[in-house]
Amino acid sequence: MSPDEGVLDKKAAIDEEPYDRALRPKSLSEFVGQDKLKDNLRVFIEAARRRKEPLDHCLFYSPPGLGKTTLAAILARELGVNLRTTSGPILERVGDLAALLTDLSEGDVLFIDEIHRLNRLVEESLYPVMEDFTFYIQTGKGPMASTVKLAVPRFTLVGATTRAGLLTGPLRDRFGIVGHLGFYSLDELTAIVRRSAGLLGIKADAGGCAEVARRSRATPRIANRLLRRVRDFAEVQGNGTITGPSAADALDKLEVDASGLDTLDRRYLRALAEKFSGGPVGADTLAVAVSEETDTLTDVVEPFLIQAGFLQHTPRGRMATKLAFEHLGVKPPARLGELFA
Ligand SMILES: Nc1ncnc2c1ncn2[C@@H]1O[C@H](COP(=O)(O)OP(=O)(O)OP(=O)(O)O)[C@@H](O)[C@H]1O
Ligand SMILES: [Mg+2]
Repeated sequence: MSPDEGVLDKKAAIDEEPYDRALRPKSLSEFVGQDKLKDNLRVFIEAARRRKEPLDHCLFYSPPGLGKTTLAAILARELGVNLRTTSGPILERVGDLAALLTDLSEGDVLFIDEIHRLNRLVEESLYPVMEDFTFYIQTGKGPMASTVKLAVPRFTLVGATTRAGLLTGPLRDRFGIVGHLGFYSLDELTAIVRRSAGLLGIKADAGGCAEVARRSRATPRIANRLLRRVRDFAEVQGNGTITGPSAADALDKLEVDASGLDTLDRRYLRALAEKFSGGPVGADTLAVAVSEETDTLTDVVEPFLIQAGFLQHTPRGRMATKLAFEHLGVKPPARLGELFA
């Protein structure tokens, strides 16, 4: 696998859509993990239902593949309302937003993915809509310009972003419910792999499910993708059942190591450990060293490396941890010896 494919794979929601749809949990009870967030959402949904009001606007943020889109669809289902989906980059003009809003019914969920990528005009026209469901349309230009006030149905805006820090303050403040989705534990991810195997008719024993889960960067989307690849190996080179050893063997061939790091993760860590002697170094400098976009590193690569204890963010830049040097089998420079002792 080339390094580029590694990145594309992580982002490749599009290729996997038919599978995605089949595997996507449809209710909160099917949605594995994120227990605190789920419990809170249950309360908010019930309260909104009793008051016969739309649910307050929700913002979900997490690294890719942890379930934001899934959760938005579940909310609509649990509320028994329609789901309309769009994304920040698609809503280019205020008129695009107007068309969407006027088409909503009372109580609907409008999901805006990548909401941090809304352009400024569209974002600003969203503020009064979120506050009191009023939309202001500018008509005409120059001295003839005027503003028309339009009431839109009371609906729930659900926004998703990979980093809450990318949102402007005024936008973030207008969400009544803000939920962070964290990485999944091994037990949770194993349950997800078991569930997906069942739905896809894949034979996998307990050890097989656990091994796929262990190497999935604590991320359901990656777990589902690796499960399908490991199945290919089990069917062609084995007896069709995924076991712990057969999964480990297949994942080695896919260059996913025992800690779940893929080629890009290792290239990143290796650059940090070897070229920059463990850091500290800035994200942009690292991005040049591994020929990737800085955004890919900060949104996709780094969150898991930090979570897994391979990477540290310090005020002076990124630093490799002792664990990272051990994992790569690289001797840490003497100056880090004291830090690692
Ligand atoms: N809690 C969960 N339980 C079971 N499966 C899940 C869970 N969360 C996510 N998945 C699975 O992982 C896939 C990816 O999730 P989803 O598309 O919701 O992630 P996302 O956070 O929206 O990612 P992105 O930031 O890339 O848009 C889903 O299709 C679903 O099958
Ligand atoms: Mg999504």
